[in-house]
Amino acid sequence: MWTAVAVLVVTVVVLLLFRANKRPAGLPPGPFSLPYIGNALQILKDTSKGAFKKYTEAYGGIMSFKSYGVWTVLVSDPALMRTGLADPVASGRTDLLLLRKRDSIIKGRECPALGIIGTSGDVWRQQRRFTLRTLRDLGFGRNTMEPIMQEELDELLQLFTRRQGEKVDVGLLFNRSIVNVIWAITIGKRYSYDDKKLEALVEKVNKMLLTFNPLHPALRFRWVKKLFPNLSIIRHTEGYMAEVLAFIEGEVEAYRQEMGDQVDTGCYIGAYLYELSLLKPGEEDDQTTLTVDHLKANILELFLAGSETTSSTLWWAVFFLASNPQAQQTMQEEMDRVVGRDNTPAQAHMDRLPYTMATICEVQRMGDLLPFAIPHKATEDVSLGGYRIPKGTTILFNLSHGLLDPKYWQEPTQFRPERFLTEEGKVFKPDHFMPFGSGKRVCLGESLARLEVFVFLASLMHRFSWRLADDNVTWETSTFLSQPPNFYV
Ligand code: HEM
Repeated sequence: MWTAVAVLVVTVVVLLLFRANKRPAGLPPGPFSLPYIGNALQILKDTSKGAFKKYTEAYGGIMSFKSYGVWTVLVSDPALMRTGLADPVASGRTDLLLLRKRDSIIKGRECPALGIIGTSGDVWRQQRRFTLRTLRDLGFGRNTMEPIMQEELDELLQLFTRRQGEKVDVGLLFNRSIVNVIWAITIGKRYSYDDKKLEALVEKVNKMLLTFNPLHPALRFRWVKKLFPNLSIIRHTEGYMAEVLAFIEGEVEAYRQEMGDQVDTGCYIGAYLYELSLLKPGEEDDQTTLTVDHLKANILELFLAGSETTSSTLWWAVFFLASNPQAQQTMQEEMDRVVGRDNTPAQAHMDRLPYTMATICEVQRMGDLLPFAIPHKATEDVSLGGYRIPKGTTILFNLSHGLLDPKYWQEPTQFRPERFLTEEGKVFKPDHFMPFGSGKRVCLGESLARLEVFVFLASLMHRFSWRLADDNVTWETSTFLSQPPNFYV
């Protein structure tokens, strides 16, 4: 009897393992995976970035693994990344846990994805196209944005001037200025630098993005959530998402009430509401038109995607430059020559500041802020690198590999802006450098982010010299956003 049970158990286990490892035809090779959870444990044990590095070393520039029953292709080879990112059928989105929570709060029930980041097909095209066009009309990434940035910058410079000589924790200091720039564009208003509500919101967004880990069992299994409702990952992701959304919804409603029937296309929300007003009654539909629900989702995305990324890039920049006095001095000397001591660095100077621009590239390379692009999905079979990736497969583009691998960069752990300069002193960005992604889903805010990072960083370096206050540099691990260390200057 016991022998029969043992044989049965072994047979079931073997069958389960066989099923878990039966790769759909066309997928590239990869590691052995466990039933149901697949390779999630392997990845959770490490960081995603560390695990994907090991996968790339073991299986090459394109491989596959399984995560909670979903086959995922990891693309690390930069040429394959460029090809895949440009392919419309590799540009869908998988179900994004964090945004699914947001959408179910907006709708009050489970529903198809809203907004830009989490949608695919016509819904995505429509929201992205409208948003890009409107933001461009509003001067996104152009010199018309400079006065808004200047106002924020002045406040930040005053703060650093007041605290000159003191030990300053740079931390989330940039977030408030960057949020205000986004806010000026989307809703046409700014918050006072000392606004406690804004400060709390910024901290929550930071915690949410730092803690979020789509592979964590607490976000995967309802029973884990029920048993441990106070787990910090649940509070920091789902809980904070609900709070941030409540804030955005409050702002949208306040705007609508304040404006009444007046039309104001001078900010994103006004332009969106105006377009909505052109629809006939009953025409509003999440799948085919702009809607108030998409509007709330889009604003939250501009806020999430546009604040933490740009602020953290500035935070990384101060860290790298404070740790590399030679690079800092070269940048300052270039600005003294081109901008002069009595002027403020502006967009018009960008072309004449190659070392400064190369420094920003080097900050983005070493900071490796988003190690892999937001997960894509194959909306049809995708041909890539000699494989035929079946429709429905998740595709992860390992941007980090092209930024940090020694195959592409000499001494990649050294901070050397010169690597982005040609012998003639011009800025040169190789094809494997893709901090904003590339192709169909390339970062929607790239032009704004570039301008913001330049305007803020150039002015901070032009006005002050920076050095680390002490050796007390502490690092936190995060899953999909590489947060800079905590340090004092
Ligand atoms: C230095 C700052 C930034 C970096 C490094 C960055 C990087 C990225 C990356 C790698 C992606 C994923 C591309 C993909 O999925 O293939 C992305 C998407 C996106 N970014 Fe950024 N980003 C930055 C700033 C911004 C800003 C300022 C905004 C808006 C104000 C923004 C809005 C978005 C949006 C909406 C998407 C989703 C696009 C889509 O799904 O079609 N980002 N970004």
